[in-house]
Amino acid sequence: ETIDWDPEQAGKGGYDHFMLKEIHEQPTALAQAIEGRVDSETPAIRLEDFRNGTFDGVENVQLVACGTSYHAALYGSLALNRAGVRATALLANEYSASSPPIDDGTLVIAVTQSGETADTLNALRRANADGARTLTVTNVVGSTAARTADDALFIRAGPEIGVAATKTFSSQVVMLLLLAQRITDDARGEPAADLDALLSELRRMPDRLDALLSWSDAEAIARRYDGSQSYFFIGRGLGFSVALEGALKFKEITYGHAEGFASGELKHGPLALVTPETPVFAVFTGREDEKTLKNAEEAQTRGAPIVAVCPDGHRAVDVADAHLEIPETHPALAGLFANVQLQLVSYHAASLLDRPIDKPRNLAKSVTVE
Ligand code: G6P
Repeated sequence: ETIDWDPEQAGKGGYDHFMLKEIHEQPTALAQAIEGRVDSETPAIRLEDFRNGTFDGVENVQLVACGTSYHAALYGSLALNRAGVRATALLANEYSASSPPIDDGTLVIAVTQSGETADTLNALRRANADGARTLTVTNVVGSTAARTADDALFIRAGPEIGVAATKTFSSQVVMLLLLAQRITDDARGEPAADLDALLSELRRMPDRLDALLSWSDAEAIARRYDGSQSYFFIGRGLGFSVALEGALKFKEITYGHAEGFASGELKHGPLALVTPETPVFAVFTGREDEKTLKNAEEAQTRGAPIVAVCPDGHRAVDVADAHLEIPETHPALAGLFANVQLQLVSYHAASLLDRPIDKPRNLAKSVTVE
C-alpha cells in the first residue's frame, strides 16, 4: 500500500491554506523578531549592527513601501512621530512623483517583505542617488533591497507563501517599533519614558497571540456578516493603519468591497455609503477611543452594524452589535492584536465564499514591474 504525498499539502502543516498557517505562525514569527533584540530589564533594544549612536543626526525619516508593507510603514511613521522624530510614510510608487526633500538629516527606510518589489526598489535607488542615508526592513536576506540599501534589518518571519501578507506585517510593525525607539534614543540621547512598559508587553505578545488564535470568534463574525454589500474598517492613529490593512486583506482574498477610513473622516464623505448592509469594524487601540466610539455610533445611527475590536470590558462592547476581543495591552501593540482578528475575519469570509485564498486572482506575491 502506498500513501500519496502531496508536497504542497505537506507544506501547509495540516492547515487548509498557507494563509491560515501563516496567521498561526505569528507568535513564533514575533518571538523570532525580538529574539536577542529586546532587554526589558535595562530596558534596552539591541539591533545587531545598529549600536548606540548609529542614528545620531537623523532628523527626519521617510518610509517607502507598497501594499501591506505600506500599512506597516504608516504604523511605524506614527510611532516615530509620537516619539518626537519627524517621519512620513510614502507609497513607493508615488515617490518619484512626489518625494519630500532630502537633506543630511534624512533617513529613508524601504519596508518590503520580499525585498524585490520594483516600486519600492525604485524609490530606494532614487533616495540613494539623492544622497539620503538608506535602510531596508525586509524578510529576505540577500534580497535586492538588502543589497541596495546602506543597511538592512531583517524581520526573521520565515518564508511567507500566501499572496496576502499576514505574519510579515506583524513582524514589520514590531521591527519598526524597535527601530523607532533606537532612532529616538539616538536623536534625544535617552530612551522613551515608557520603554520598559512597551518592551515587557512585547515579550508577552507571542503567548498572548497564541491564546487569541485559540479563542478568536472571528469565524462567527465572518458568518454573521457574510453577503454584506460593503465592509468598512475604521480607526484612528495606529488604528487607522490597521483599518487600512484590514480592508486591503478583505479585498485581496474575498473580492468583496472593503474600505478603510480614519474614523474622524467618516463624516466627511464616506458616511454617505453607510447602510444596514455595510458592517463597520471599529478598531480601538486605547488612544482617543472615545472619539472613535462616537464616530462608530454615527455609522450605527445610519443602521450599520458595528463590530468593536477592543478588550473585554471596554465601553465600546456595550454600544456595538458585535465584539472581536483583543487583550489589554500597551497602546502601541493593541493594533497588532486587532489586525490578527481582522486577518481571521477576512480568511473565514473568503473561505465561506470558497475563494482561492492563497492565490487570489490578478495578484502576485511579489510585483517586480513598475
Ligand atoms: C504585492 C503583494 C502584497 C504586498 C506588496 C508589497 O502587491 O501582493 O501582498 O504587500 O506586493 O510587497 P513587499 O514584498 O514589497 O512587501
